[in-house]
Amino acid sequence: MNILYITDTGRGIEHWRDEFAKADSSLTIYGLDDSYDPLEIDVVLAWKPPSGIFPTLKNLKLTHSLGMGVDHIIKCPDLLRDVPIARIIDTDMSVQMSEYSLYGTLTAFRKFHIYQKQQAQNEWRPRSRNFHEDFKIGILGLGELGSAVAASLYQNGFTNLRGWSKSQKSISGIQSFAGDENLEEFATGLDVLICLLPLTKETIHILNLDLFAKLNEGAYLINPARGEHLVEEDLITALDKGYLSGALLDVFTQEPLPEDHPFWQDSRIELTPHIAAETNPRTASEQVIQNIQRVKENLPALNLIDLSKEY
Ligand code: NAP
Ligand code: GLV
Repeated sequence: MNILYITDTGRGIEHWRDEFAKADSSLTIYGLDDSYDPLEIDVVLAWKPPSGIFPTLKNLKLTHSLGMGVDHIIKCPDLLRDVPIARIIDTDMSVQMSEYSLYGTLTAFRKFHIYQKQQAQNEWRPRSRNFHEDFKIGILGLGELGSAVAASLYQNGFTNLRGWSKSQKSISGIQSFAGDENLEEFATGLDVLICLLPLTKETIHILNLDLFAKLNEGAYLINPARGEHLVEEDLITALDKGYLSGALLDVFTQEPLPEDHPFWQDSRIELTPHIAAETNPRTASEQVIQNIQRVKENLPALNLIDLSKEY
């Protein structure tokens, strides 16, 4: 089987090559700079694939995301829409995302972000404490990551949990809200809002001033989903108005975040360079290889997305 590795930077191919070589010597992985016959390519492994390549792959059988999200593939203007798209679902990434969300939640719960600002002013001022049972956390998206994050928060004593999804869920310990008509009720009075939605036409710009105004005053935002979920100017306004007291952001409308972007210098915002849950070829390659094997055997790949839903 022939695999083409298409990413925006080309980085990381050697790790996938190592893992493939260990597992199955019949798999050949090409980078865009290698000499390959486009008609012989069976599977694409993609992260932010540029346009111009897919139309040459006339015998492509599967497009496989190198991450859990697929928006970066769906936005490719000449994507082969009849070819199935699979994504990675890896416990290792759920664990990383749970750590990231727990870090942000503890920051807000223990007011570390407020004490950090006080330290910069040499200000010694203990604040009133929060209590787990009163501290309301809402998770937008209760899929692979959202449900893992909810479970980890619950295990860490955060029992006042709400989740918002498209369909109603029955998850022990989580109050489920479903659909646009219940978004306002979900958001009202939250102390922490965590976004773990896929980026779609329906979810773009969902993190906006109207939503922030529904939260508890001085709430805290955690966004490790996609940058375009957030209306960036609205975050600054919400911080200025006191709707939010801080935010932890991993993803941005433009990545890398431009050097002159105001978020860099805003002490109310903590940011990380899209590392909340990184794909690890050591753990993720097994399922990708299994999917390639399934393609070879004319079986449907696992973890396929529904292109009409965009996730
Ligand atoms: P997923 O399993 O596909 O789950 C998506 C969840 O969002 C589902 O619960 C779905 O509801 C809900 N949803 C989708 N559209 C909705 C809408 N219009 N209204 C209400 N709920 C909606 O996704 P995942 O694997 O958890 O990943 C979520 C996102 O995390 C990815 O798409 C990616 O963008 C991001 N991510 C970021 C990093 C990072 O390092 N920063 C790493 C990995 C992933 P239903 O359950 O009812 O369908
Ligand atoms: C990372 O952002 C992913 O989608 O895996």
